[in-house]
Amino acid sequence: MSEREIIVLDTADALYTRAAEEIAHIAGEAICTHGEFLLCLTGGRTPESTYQLLASRFQLSVDWKEVQFFWGDERCVPPDDPGSNFGMANRALLSHLNLKPGQIHRMRGEDEPGRAAQEYEEGLRRALRLSRDEFPRFDLTLLGLGANCHIASMFPGSPALHEQHRIAATVEVDDKYRNRITLTPPAINNSARVMFLVSGEEKAHAVKTVLEGEDNPEMVPAHIVKPDDGSVIWLLDRAAASQLSNR
Ligand code: 6PG
Repeated sequence: MSEREIIVLDTADALYTRAAEEIAHIAGEAICTHGEFLLCLTGGRTPESTYQLLASRFQLSVDWKEVQFFWGDERCVPPDDPGSNFGMANRALLSHLNLKPGQIHRMRGEDEPGRAAQEYEEGLRRALRLSRDEFPRFDLTLLGLGANCHIASMFPGSPALHEQHRIAATVEVDDKYRNRITLTPPAINNSARVMFLVSGEEKAHAVKTVLEGEDNPEMVPAHIVKPDDGSVIWLLDRAAASQLSNR
């Protein structure tokens, strides 16, 4: 059973800062405990400011040479495309950290999606020395929340919601970036911690649906997030939390 913590911050900026603080804290704990920090990044707009804070104000708070970077999903576009989740994280964070190339395990959005998903999965298994039926155990998986309650690139009704064996799958979604690669539910749910970062009034209904509505993973993909042996932290700003009953 996964624990769930909900933290509401007054403003979006306070949310971004708290997220950076939490990530730096979890990184320190993981590196002290097992010598590395396996961090699975999310895409979209919300995390960008947090990534920028990690690269600036918090840069000295993390031993970045011990961090391995992964992604929860990627749009099938080249890294220099404005829609690339890797591209955004690289501009905001990775390019400022003097990392070794082997620390970055990205989904190759520029490649044929099926092959890119396969290669991401095989690369992950090699990097983390996983057997064929083992899933990665990220120390922290970051997730955003779509206004339609999607997480990573698993949208309502997505066949990927039923994937129980693969680590990564290809999906087609109703969005500007139609073709994507996404982590699957078992890969997300093997995380030690999952942290949602959600900001803005436009997400308030989705937040209420996820946190207070009937369990319905098929149409509310965020409901699929129930780490087998891990915790879930929701970082919300007041606008995103505005429809919750007990804010
Ligand atoms: C993506 C993300 C996606 C995102 C949500 C929220 O590739 O788009 O991984 O799951 O987290 O759509 O996006 P915003 O942060 O832009 O609202």
